[in-house]
Amino acid sequence: MKFFIDSADIAEIRDLAETGLVDGITTNPSLIAKSGRGFLDVVKEICSIVPGPVSAEVTAVEYEKMLAEGRKLAKIAKNITVKVPLTRDGLKACRTLRNEGTMVNVTLCFSAAQALLAAKAGANFVSPFVGRLDDVGSDGMELISDIMQIYSQYPAIETEVLVASIRHPVHVVQAAKMGADVATLPPNVLRQLFNHPLTDKGLAAFLADWQKTGQSIL
Ligand code: E4P
Repeated sequence: MKFFIDSADIAEIRDLAETGLVDGITTNPSLIAKSGRGFLDVVKEICSIVPGPVSAEVTAVEYEKMLAEGRKLAKIAKNITVKVPLTRDGLKACRTLRNEGTMVNVTLCFSAAQALLAAKAGANFVSPFVGRLDDVGSDGMELISDIMQIYSQYPAIETEVLVASIRHPVHVVQAAKMGADVATLPPNVLRQLFNHPLTDKGLAAFLADWQKTGQSIL
C-alpha cells in the first residue's frame, strides 16, 4: 500500500519524507489555509520535495472554471494531480483533464455509486473519506470494502482507491487488509504507526545487555 501524507505543512512533509516511506502528498483548500501560505507557492515547494503524486484541489464548482484552474495547476510540476470534487461538473472536468494527460484525484467520495462514476470518468485516484463517514455514524471502512469489491469485478478499472480522512492507525491497517491502493495519512498518524511499547522495552533490554559485554561494533 502506498502512503501519502495529508498535509500542506512543509516542515512536516520534509520531516516525514526523510523516512523514505512517503509516496505522495494530498492537500485540500482547508490544509492550504492552515499553512498560511500562497497556494501555488506551497504546492510548487511540495512537488520539489516529494517526487510522487501531489494533489492540488480546484476551488471552482463549474466545469469551465474547474478546467481552467486544473490546467493552471497541472503546469506547476509534472507530479501534480489535480483534485476535483465528486460532482457532475467535477467528473466532467476529470474526463477532459485525463484526456489531456493530466493526473486526477476525485475527492469527497462518500458512496460506492460515486466511486463507480469516478472510475468511469477515468480518475487516477478516488478518495473516499472514512473518518467523516464515521463521524456521522456510518462505517467508513465498509465503504472501502464495497469499493474494493466493485472495482475487483472489472479488471479494466485502473482507478486507485485512496483512503482519505484517516483518523488513526486502525484505519490504516484495515485499509491494508482490504488491499486499498493508497492511504493518505495525517502526519501524526504516520508517526503513530512506528510505535509499540514492546519495541521500546525490548530495545532497552537489548542495549542494557549489550553494554554489559563491553563490546562495540565500530
Ligand atoms: C484527502 O485528500 C483529504 O484531504 C483529507 O483526507 C480529509 O481529511 P479530514 O476529514 O480529516 O479533513
